[in-house]
Amino acid sequence: MKAEDIKAAALSCPFCRAFTVIESTTSTNDDLLKESRDGAPDGRVLIADQQLGGRGRVGRTWSSPAGVNLYMSVLLRPELEDVAALTPLALVAGLAVAESARATAGVDAQVKWPNDVLIKGRKVAGILMEAAEGRSGRPALVIGIGLNVNQPTFPEELADIATSLTIETGRSFSRSLVAAGLLSRLHARVSQAFEDGIEPVLDEWTALSSTIGRRVRPQDCPEGTALSVDTSGALVVRDDSGEVHRVIAGLIDEL
Ligand code: BTN
Repeated sequence: MKAEDIKAAALSCPFCRAFTVIESTTSTNDDLLKESRDGAPDGRVLIADQQLGGRGRVGRTWSSPAGVNLYMSVLLRPELEDVAALTPLALVAGLAVAESARATAGVDAQVKWPNDVLIKGRKVAGILMEAAEGRSGRPALVIGIGLNVNQPTFPEELADIATSLTIETGRSFSRSLVAAGLLSRLHARVSQAFEDGIEPVLDEWTALSSTIGRRVRPQDCPEGTALSVDTSGALVVRDDSGEVHRVIAGLIDEL
């Protein structure tokens, strides 16, 4: 995977302005969080061939073997003062990953609230969004994306819940092209969310969602039917007594 190849494939994508591909690191999110403290610019992108301490949501690890998958992080410094307005960007990122997997590999990728990407119920990508060091009173965030591209198999404990583009299609993919397609899509969707507001993007998220309309079991509220996502990115769930709950964070099971 070479930075020149990714840039050549995504020439018009502004996320290719300050761009680095490295062989190995602990975690691309950790690196960009540190760079944000040193003043790294909006749109800075870091991609690693391997992570030795890849991190997932809720304190989990993210398996990041060398040479097969995509591990990338993007630093955003939006022209906003309202930190809460950034929360739904995690859903926006999930949508962009699902759309680019569909376009690149022809797979039926779906988004599971809040931001997992699934193919036939197995996870092909995950997103870890973290607050970074802002400037002049403005927030900043790092969006970290792990996408399983050419991984041929998974260890026994993951085999039933994880998948890759290769497992789903029987083909292998140029990770540079996958990265270029993903960065372009991410830029398009993030820009749309900032320019036109979040609602149109959430409509697209809902159309690709495995969650909406399903029975779900959230961690911190009763089981029920997932009705929608609201503009803050929360999942709206109606329990069996008819009471409506807003789930704002954590994990859910789709039943
Ligand atoms: C999850 O589903 O739990 C989120 C996984 C996020 C993994 C990516 S890989 C690139 C970036 N660096 C990390 O350490 N984590 C994210």
